[in-house]
Amino acid sequence: MAVLYVLLSWAAHAVVLLFFLIFAAFLGYCLYVKYIHMKYDHIPGPPRSSFLFGHSLTMLRAMENDGGVHQKMLEWAEEYGPVYRLNTLHYILVFVYCPETTKDIMMSPKYPKAELAYRRIVNLFGQRFLGNGLVTAHDHEKWYKQRRIIDPAFSSVYLKSLMGIFNERAETLMSKLSDAADKKTETNMLHLFNGVTFDVIAKAAFGVDLDLLQNITRFSEAIDLCLKGMIYYVRDVFFEFKPKNKPFINKVREACHLLRITGAQWIRERKTAMQNGEDVPKDILTQIIKSAGEEENMTEEDEELMLDNFVTFFIAGQETTANLLAFCVMSLGRHPDVLEKARKEVQDVIGMKQEVSYDNLSQLTYLSQVLKETLRLYSTAPGTARYVPEDRVINGIHIPGGNTYFFNSYVSGRLNTFFPDPLTFDPDRFHPDAPKPYYSYYPFALGPRSCLGQNFAQIEAKVVMAKLLQRFDFTLVPGQSFCIQDNGTLKPKSGTLCYITHRNYD
Ligand code: HEM
Ligand SMILES: *[C@@H]1O[C@H](CO)[C@@H](O)[C@H](O)[C@H]1NC(C)=O
Ligand SMILES: *[C@@H]1O[C@H](CO)[C@@H](O)[C@H](O)[C@H]1NC(C)=O
Ligand SMILES: *[C@@H]1O[C@H](CO)[C@@H](O)[C@H](O)[C@H]1NC(C)=O
Ligand SMILES: *[C@@H]1O[C@H](CO)[C@@H](O)[C@H](O)[C@H]1NC(C)=O
Repeated sequence: MAVLYVLLSWAAHAVVLLFFLIFAAFLGYCLYVKYIHMKYDHIPGPPRSSFLFGHSLTMLRAMENDGGVHQKMLEWAEEYGPVYRLNTLHYILVFVYCPETTKDIMMSPKYPKAELAYRRIVNLFGQRFLGNGLVTAHDHEKWYKQRRIIDPAFSSVYLKSLMGIFNERAETLMSKLSDAADKKTETNMLHLFNGVTFDVIAKAAFGVDLDLLQNITRFSEAIDLCLKGMIYYVRDVFFEFKPKNKPFINKVREACHLLRITGAQWIRERKTAMQNGEDVPKDILTQIIKSAGEEENMTEEDEELMLDNFVTFFIAGQETTANLLAFCVMSLGRHPDVLEKARKEVQDVIGMKQEVSYDNLSQLTYLSQVLKETLRLYSTAPGTARYVPEDRVINGIHIPGGNTYFFNSYVSGRLNTFFPDPLTFDPDRFHPDAPKPYYSYYPFALGPRSCLGQNFAQIEAKVVMAKLLQRFDFTLVPGQSFCIQDNGTLKPKSGTLCYITHRNYD
């Protein structure tokens, strides 16, 4: 009995001690957070809504509004100037809209992608997602090794050879639009554009005919789920710990897994073809396979890296372009004068021809301007982040080293200082004779880590838009929202609903 009593008393002591230790640790952490606040509060920034969580609750709330967190970032940039600070726990986020600094940091290979900003898409709820692929690799050497090998699949010579695919896939979309015109029903343009960009990336990058316009498979749903999961995972640290989210999280994990096993299958098939000496295209898939180690030395990490890049190309290359097209149609629908001018140009350059040739693209200058202006107002992939180890002075404000700088192209494109009367849609801002924006326009990011698919996306968008303008008239369904939905990528909330009609030629 006495022994039990002694044991119990020890246990009670231990519990008290444990509580004390946890309390002390918590207090210590709070002091550390306080120290961080003191160290950084000279950098301007909005008031914190919580001592520990800083601005994160404000940002989570902003996600629901038009433009999401990006609109909030814009308001803050207007209020606090070219460099401002946000806090969350003991982390500092530095937002920069100073062209000189943007240039110094983004154009230099010295500043790696910030782990803080990307680690939550390396893995998604514990399932490997973008891994160490091209978008997420932060070690410069590891990234450069992959990029050098994959680059040829984006050379202008290679892209030129893809014109057949771009044209053919866009024709499938045209026949869908033709059906819509015959039926005279409302058409969700984003939905159709998602189909065509999906089809293009599957065929051009991986040599696979998905023909998704006929067959929306589990695969595209999986991509959608991953993107949704990604955004919760990135923005809400507690999301995965809330029991009510379990079923959703399991679905995201499965979706993520489905992408990777599909990738593994396509890679296996291509490798077999290569081993059998078949004539395979020098497409992205071939380059991805080459970027991994040699056959006999292939490590498990190499295998995983190929899958990382497989998933990366689907995530980076599909929705971004579809959203751009949907915003473009929305903007043209709201600006009939711009629409007429773009259409006139298309008629002059391609006339009645079905095929858009590579040489025609460079002559569609006004259409290029329209697409650029669309991305200024609607940057579909709005941000990038770099780790800056050394101290810097921005706009007279000292920023201690060891922090993450965020660059947001949605904000930059809408700042009055860079683009006067920013909310006016005016493609002439990008007229060939107009002064070029100075490190204030970067929908594809800038420098060594800029978008590898920039030209690919522009060609694709031009071919689709040229054919659309050539053959169809459209009006926006009245009463629809022109709000922006922020789901990681930005897209038109309404999906851009249109009535399509055939064009009458006289
Ligand atoms: C309108 C369409 C597109 C937009 C707005 C866009 C935008 C971007 C941006 C902002 C980045 C930098 C991301 C970051 O810093 O975290 C990026 C990177 C990348 N994009 Fe795109 N992208 C588009 C289309 C494409 C397409 C069609 C492909 C492929 C076919 C592609 C492949 C990539 C790759 C591989 C990277 C990583 C580059 C590297 O770090 O080496 N993108 N893109
Ligand atoms: C649709 O996709 C499924 C699953 O990927 C495939 O088995 C089927 O053959 C496809 N159907 C058509 C008509 O392409
Ligand atoms: C997508 O955006 C809408 C509105 O902007 C929001 O209500 C919804 O929760 C978002 N979904 C995800 C997965 O972030
Ligand atoms: C495999 O690795 C070994 C040692 O790392 C190297 O000597 C050899 O050349 C490699 N083989 C190939 C085909 O790359
Ligand atoms: C467009 O391309 C076709 C085929 O390459 C060419 O015949 C035509 O002249 C081009 N249009 C213009 C305006 O150059």
